[in-house]
Amino acid sequence: ASEKHIKWVNLLLTTDKALNGIIKYNMRKSLDLEQEGCYLQTGKKECLEECGFNATAKTIFIIHGWSMSGMFESWMQKLVAAVMRRETEANVVVVDWIAMAQQLYPDAVNHTHNVGLDIATMLNWLQDEQQLPLENVHLIGYSLGAHVAGYAGTFVRGTIGRITGLDPAGPMFEGVEEQKRLSPDDADFVDVLHTYTREALGVSIGIQQPIGDIDIYPNGGDVQPGCALGDVLAVAGNFMEVMKCEHERAVHLFVDSLMNKDHMSFAFQCTGPDRFKKGICLSCRKNRCNNIGYNTRKMRKRRNSKMYLKTRADTPFGGYHYQMKMHVFNRKKSDNADPTFHVKLYGAHNDTTNIFVDVHDDTVGLNLTNTFLVFTEKDIGDLLKIRLSWEGESESWNSVWKNIKQTFWAWNTKPPKPVLEVRRIRVKAGETQKKFTFCAQDPAKAEISPGESITYVKCRDGWEVKPRKRYET
Ligand SMILES: *[C@@H]1O[C@H](CO)[C@@H](O)[C@H](O)[C@H]1NC(C)=O
Ligand SMILES: *[C@@H]1O[C@H](CO)[C@@H](O)[C@H](O)[C@H]1NC(C)=O
Ligand SMILES: *[C@@H]1O[C@H](CO)[C@@H](O)[C@H](O)[C@H]1NC(C)=O
Ligand SMILES: *[C@@H]1O[C@H](CO)[C@@H](O)[C@H](O)[C@H]1NC(C)=O
Repeated sequence: ASEKHIKWVNLLLTTDKALNGIIKYNMRKSLDLEQEGCYLQTGKKECLEECGFNATAKTIFIIHGWSMSGMFESWMQKLVAAVMRRETEANVVVVDWIAMAQQLYPDAVNHTHNVGLDIATMLNWLQDEQQLPLENVHLIGYSLGAHVAGYAGTFVRGTIGRITGLDPAGPMFEGVEEQKRLSPDDADFVDVLHTYTREALGVSIGIQQPIGDIDIYPNGGDVQPGCALGDVLAVAGNFMEVMKCEHERAVHLFVDSLMNKDHMSFAFQCTGPDRFKKGICLSCRKNRCNNIGYNTRKMRKRRNSKMYLKTRADTPFGGYHYQMKMHVFNRKKSDNADPTFHVKLYGAHNDTTNIFVDVHDDTVGLNLTNTFLVFTEKDIGDLLKIRLSWEGESESWNSVWKNIKQTFWAWNTKPPKPVLEVRRIRVKAGETQKKFTFCAQDPAKAEISPGESITYVKCRDGWEVKPRKRYET
């Protein structure tokens, strides 16, 4: 710490004095957007009183990122309003470094260091002047602003309580050493939302690597629902908006978490997006799940814990995750069956539509226990019944092609109808962690062929008789 302090003092001495005043600390006083609020300035005690700064309340700094327009983007007001509504007594401060952010990207990156230092100076002054406890300080930074927060955490005297990185910028930060980007050491708790990590021309707008204590990748961190080219062009009409949609989604998820305290979205720890999409990771044991956004619970230092969830396309973003396990027996020469399954869930409150069971470039394993992830947008209440259906032959191009091949080789013989059997479906609800077993409603009807469906109802047995071995012998 003393080494850090010396580093801090040295840097302070070399900081350009001209910086003074370029970075503004706008403390918000009212939800009224027209009200300008007031400004905190290091060394000016009278500002504290004028602004009604309350040193025993939480202090939340919101830090924007790179700017092309030289103005705040529209998300800023939404985030400020959501924070103020949730934390009515908090000191909510917008860090305005627009003048330094509206530059060529590499120059704006270069400034993150000094802006972070300036914030640290402000926090040090508040500690001296008001005995501000740093553990009550929460910095929320979007894009480049996340790395600014990282520098602030590095240079401040003491340890900031929490830093939230909202899709921290990737270009010039991906793969660089911890001191030059947001990292877990920058605060007692560092949580990060990654929403735009898709790579184009070797870079991604949002940083891909995990850089916090927990790193949450909604929808795998790449394709955000509602941000498809068509969706966005229809509304906004230009390509910049497509990029903005995915990058900014982190902010909107965070705003959502501030406003919808009653329906929290859960994220689940997983080693990678592919395993998550297969439904393998829906466990909450040993802190493997957490709330997302503002409601994220602090966890013991466990670096780079990657977490995943699926979301809806709009607020409220939260949905419901189900893990479904089913053993698919191959009953009649169906080695190439490649079934396309759908499930429809019937709940105490409502039913879902027919949901496609996505196997992600894989095929349904025959004579194997398959695990799937099923996501529903609405709360159907307690799950009562499941209908599994196999899309008819004619509807699947894959099977059309197979039929053509088969017909070609055997002009007269009709291809044998594939028959699979699924006796039960074991379900785990991610949001409640409840487990149920569903058995074929009619035990005599557990076989399924293309174009058919089976209905399953809750039954008692199941967990006891689950197959011990993965492969049938
Ligand atoms: C300051 O904040 C604390 C904690 O939120 C609160 O109990 C107190 O009433 C606040 N003081 C004023 C003057 O608003
Ligand atoms: C920022 O740019 C200046 C001048 O181009 C350079 O001297 C300095 O090292 C850069 N700072 C950082 C932190 O990269
Ligand atoms: C599955 O088991 C059945 C008989 O139980 C067998 O005929 C079939 O070849 C097996 N299929 C695969 C893909 O293992
Ligand atoms: C069930 O969902 C549909 C479609 O979302 C909705 O119109 C209907 O009101 C819901 N029914 C109940 C009982 O909530």
